[in-house]
Amino acid sequence: MNPGGEMLILLPALLCLLPGASWAATLGGLGDNILGPHKFQDVGNFSTFLLDRSSGVLFLGARDAILSVDTNNLNQVPRKIVWDVPEEKRRSCVAKGKTEVDCNNYIRLLEFLGDGRIYVCGTYAFDPQCAFLEITSFTLEKVEDGGVKMETGKGKCPFEPSQHYTAVMAGGTLYTAATSNFLGTLFDISRATGTEQERIRTERSINWLSDPEFVSSAFIEESAENNPIGDDDKIYFFFTEVAKEYDLYTKVKVPRVARVCKSDVGGMKTLQRRWTTFLKAQLVCEDRPTGQRYNILTDVFTTQHTPGDPSSTQFYGLFTSQWEHEELSAVCVFSLAEISKVMDGPFKELKKTCDWINPEPVPTPRPGQCLNNALKAEGYESSLKLPDKVLTFVRDHPLMENSVTAAPLLVRKGVRYTKLAVTQMGGGERQKGAVLHLGTDRGELHRVAVVGQNATLLQEIPLFSSQEPVNNILLHQGLALVGSPLSLARVQAEGCALYSDCKECARARGLGCDWSTEEAACRPTTAEPGPGDVVDNALRKCDKEEGRCSPSMRELRVSLGLRLLLPCVQLSPRPCSWEHPPHRHTRQHNSDLEVTVTEDSLGDYICTCQRSQTVPSCSINPGLQAERCGCQRAENRGESPSGGLQ
Ligand SMILES: *[C@@H]1O[C@H](CO)[C@@H](O)[C@H](O)[C@H]1NC(C)=O
Ligand SMILES: *[C@@H]1O[C@H](CO)[C@@H](O)[C@H](O)[C@H]1NC(C)=O
Repeated sequence: MNPGGEMLILLPALLCLLPGASWAATLGGLGDNILGPHKFQDVGNFSTFLLDRSSGVLFLGARDAILSVDTNNLNQVPRKIVWDVPEEKRRSCVAKGKTEVDCNNYIRLLEFLGDGRIYVCGTYAFDPQCAFLEITSFTLEKVEDGGVKMETGKGKCPFEPSQHYTAVMAGGTLYTAATSNFLGTLFDISRATGTEQERIRTERSINWLSDPEFVSSAFIEESAENNPIGDDDKIYFFFTEVAKEYDLYTKVKVPRVARVCKSDVGGMKTLQRRWTTFLKAQLVCEDRPTGQRYNILTDVFTTQHTPGDPSSTQFYGLFTSQWEHEELSAVCVFSLAEISKVMDGPFKELKKTCDWINPEPVPTPRPGQCLNNALKAEGYESSLKLPDKVLTFVRDHPLMENSVTAAPLLVRKGVRYTKLAVTQMGGGERQKGAVLHLGTDRGELHRVAVVGQNATLLQEIPLFSSQEPVNNILLHQGLALVGSPLSLARVQAEGCALYSDCKECARARGLGCDWSTEEAACRPTTAEPGPGDVVDNALRKCDKEEGRCSPSMRELRVSLGLRLLLPCVQLSPRPCSWEHPPHRHTRQHNSDLEVTVTEDSLGDYICTCQRSQTVPSCSINPGLQAERCGCQRAENRGESPSGGLQ
């Protein structure tokens, strides 16, 4: 052993195996499917997902290629179109100082054009280009000489393959937030397609955008039936930028939401070809009792409780913190109603001097407001007609005084979430809660139930290798399509049947799930859970159940600071799950669990794997889900200064 050094100790394989099998009727995760790198052969660097919801065909943007995968039949070989960069172009890109691997064509944008074609944009060796993909023939449109028909992708797609970027289609027109030069120093939020006159963008001022990292965007349409004031449709952009309103030595980052209106065509003299409706506000995701702020936004999921009703829109934001060295993730939810309220509130003064200044009077019509029936009746049928003083005001005051604030629904230490998606349970009034589907930087999918203010971790499912961060999650017909740069998974995402043992089911009690002992399955129930902590109550019922896999514990003697790899042998494609002391710095590598021994991480570690029909070797009493259990107890004996194992 290596005294004082960091060690990774491998323990022998499974610690208990219980023979004698009986099958449960329901298996969570039935129909789950994972396509790994071998399936995609030499294609990788997947970044963009586009799903045709009517056919279930998923288009994937990759390096030098576009793939199509039939999500109803994942066994079918994916179809592939190669769109790469000519050798000469690649060489000149490298000559400009870029790396060989970055001088490829990374497909970053796939959007339906609504005419049977998909708009495809790639980085094209730091010279972004767009092309047209015909869906039925699954080919790129060609020009006469047989080459791919291309148009410039500047402002539509980033130059650099890994640059933060977001785009959204609104009524056939593309809106983007991207860098717009080779050096990556200019940032624009723009209307990137449409007539030349309508291609407008943000002013290049640090008051508008200051070193932004773009995260997400959403197109929110007004309801067709219920829009009495004739309000305009809006596009929202989410990003993190460097705060200019604080005069500090360190670069303080702030999460933002910005809004533009769809019929904005810019000003006549002032703000010519620039947004006249660009307003932004700070998002605050803060745990008030501790004062902990999560100031870096990493993803946003947009959802409507009542589809088609913009007022029911909620934005779930995934955050981390600039100041913590430990990995940390938080989820906050912001309603569109609160954002609108802030955007209708006071403007922030962004004057340079520290002197007290009286705020400038706000001119009329209100700067940054979307056009509506009343404004049109006053003669402002277009943003071109807005008075100069309104436009100069909005140019100088893009930021709102108030912030949009929320308390975290969920905070986790030792975990870095990269993507989220949300399923609402029960519609409208009868809302039960929500399930957060969270992807990690290590290829896992976590599910968390949120009922009222209570968040409960339901499952941690390893999908890909720990080198593959989850970079896409798409929900479709009760399934989650989860992607990494190298792999794609399709997993069940709805219903109580997801939860395959009594304890998992108990944690989902608030979502209306209940464990049926007779059926040995998690079932939906309409029975109210009764008073008190619903999860605790349901868990107590599990402990009482007979015949739970109760393996003998094995004690490990460890010392503080030691790193252990607790093995759990997974013999079937079904995931194994670990129960361990809460809120610890523990990570999974496939089914094994890496534990760094601290005072807090001492306790029982139990691995449970779901049964598989292909491994009929062992199990337990009737009605049980667990096929095999490995159990370990870590205790600090402190005898061996360098760590040991007995
Ligand atoms: C593309 O994939 C390769 C191999 O996995 C990796 O080394 C490279 O960093 C990736 N590039 C980007 C831009 O993600
Ligand atoms: C939320 O948690 C608290 C404290 O554990 C508990 O008292 C309350 O009943 C829970 N609410 C729900 C809806 O589960």
